[in-house]
Amino acid sequence: MTFEYAPAPESKAIVSIKPKYGHFINGSFVAGKKHFPTINPATEEILSHISLGGLSDVDKAVAAAQKAYTKTWSKLSGKERGKYLYRIARILQERAREFAVLETLDNGKPIRETRDIDIPLVAAHFFYHAGWADKLDYAGLGHSPQPYGVAGQITPWNFPLLMLAWKVAPALATGNTVVLKPAETTSLTALLFAEVCQQAELPDGVVNIVTGDGSTGAAIVNHPGIHKIAFTGSTDVGKKIARAIASTDKKATLELGGKGANVVFDDAPIDEAVEGIVNGIFFNQGHVCCAGSRLILQESIADEVIEKLKVRMSKIRVGDPLDKNTDLGAINSKEQLVKITELSAIGDAEGAERWSPQCNLSDKGFWFAPTIFTGVTQAHRIAQEEIFGPVLSILTFRTPQEAMDKANNTPFGLSAGIWSEKGSRIFWASQHLKAGVIWANTFNKFDPASPFGGYKESGWGREGGKHGLAAYLKTGKETGAK
Ligand code: NAI
Ligand code: MG
Repeated sequence: MTFEYAPAPESKAIVSIKPKYGHFINGSFVAGKKHFPTINPATEEILSHISLGGLSDVDKAVAAAQKAYTKTWSKLSGKERGKYLYRIARILQERAREFAVLETLDNGKPIRETRDIDIPLVAAHFFYHAGWADKLDYAGLGHSPQPYGVAGQITPWNFPLLMLAWKVAPALATGNTVVLKPAETTSLTALLFAEVCQQAELPDGVVNIVTGDGSTGAAIVNHPGIHKIAFTGSTDVGKKIARAIASTDKKATLELGGKGANVVFDDAPIDEAVEGIVNGIFFNQGHVCCAGSRLILQESIADEVIEKLKVRMSKIRVGDPLDKNTDLGAINSKEQLVKITELSAIGDAEGAERWSPQCNLSDKGFWFAPTIFTGVTQAHRIAQEEIFGPVLSILTFRTPQEAMDKANNTPFGLSAGIWSEKGSRIFWASQHLKAGVIWANTFNKFDPASPFGGYKESGWGREGGKHGLAAYLKTGKETGAK
């Protein structure tokens, strides 16, 4: 006898969404001129209207950030800056449920993830960086490292508030001020964060949020008052930004795409590996730059792993993101659904074999069943391109060296996973994999103390940890020190 899960929806009552939002500039909300809707991708219901920021909005935000930098923020001691960060972290914890529900509504990701992963990590990033604010002289970055000034920050839609935290917390801890633009489909939690800045009595202009699309992002990148850029998003836009700043002295960190290899050796604990494979690709609907989107299986265990994976995938609950039992929520936008659908069709056309469990997907909203492709070769586009959805490409190998060669054969180098019981094999493989983050016998684990970033087309620089601080500080000769 099997028991069905009863619906367990989280209440929406805790959030209050305004019909229309402006920008957050110099400590206040200011009305925008043009607006565009933001929807709940699980229902296609319009949640609110977001301002489309233009050049003059960006100008005002940069001017406010510049003034706050010179008059207030750069004059405060690290200890005083740290107090504000601690205050923000505590308010985020107090309002965690409100943020989790709002993120789930605007993004489509399951409440289980926003509640247990996104929002706790957001608070953790502010706590971690609060601790650094008065210890920068001891970060190994030389004597008295100095901030750059105004940081322009552009975030994607897959982890909206978490990517804001990855960017705002280190910028403020190091004494920079901020102009941030959230992604167009998921601006609501950034606007609620603006309210947290007010509640924490953060000095006006230290954090400014201008909403809008790619043109707004480009206006921030190109603004002469911006000294440092932090971007997370697609490799295409990352390249545009790199070109735009090539002849300037703007510093940049770029966190771009990935095609992470999850390598399972024949001595791996198979049941644990299956959990790790599921977490690697189906976490956050596969909208994860470091997703384990290529499974590289030792040939001798391939059939067993794939069989067990299919059994496990049949138990993934796809549906209402607000339901506490849901594992896989909605695809973030119609555009992204089209991209996933098209790339998967290319997988079929190239001769790979597709499999998905039986799923009842709603007609309203954007959905894609968890999917695997077997018989994938390195030449297949689904083995090379970022699908950014719940789609796994499975390849096999015979020798450990072949596994490494296949794992490294992409233009990206963001993440990788190794599954083996042997410590020496894990050590060997981690030295051969060209990836910024390598997990062993686990996948998709994040911690503010751990630097994150990529090789090759996965980007420049690191965010998080001590290495992440360096991106916001002038060191050595740059400070003008002799
Ligand atoms: P995108 O890279 O266009 O958007 C990311 C952010 O950049 C958004 O805030 C957007 O408004 C802004 N932006 C767009 N054009 C810009 C420009 N010229 N200058 C400055 N900022 C600009 O990503 P999009 O179109 O939403 O997704 C396309 C693909 O990118 C996805 O299918 C996925 O493969 C990849 N992606 C990767 C992410 C990652 O974390 N690595 C996150 C989001 C998307
Ligand atoms: Mg939305």
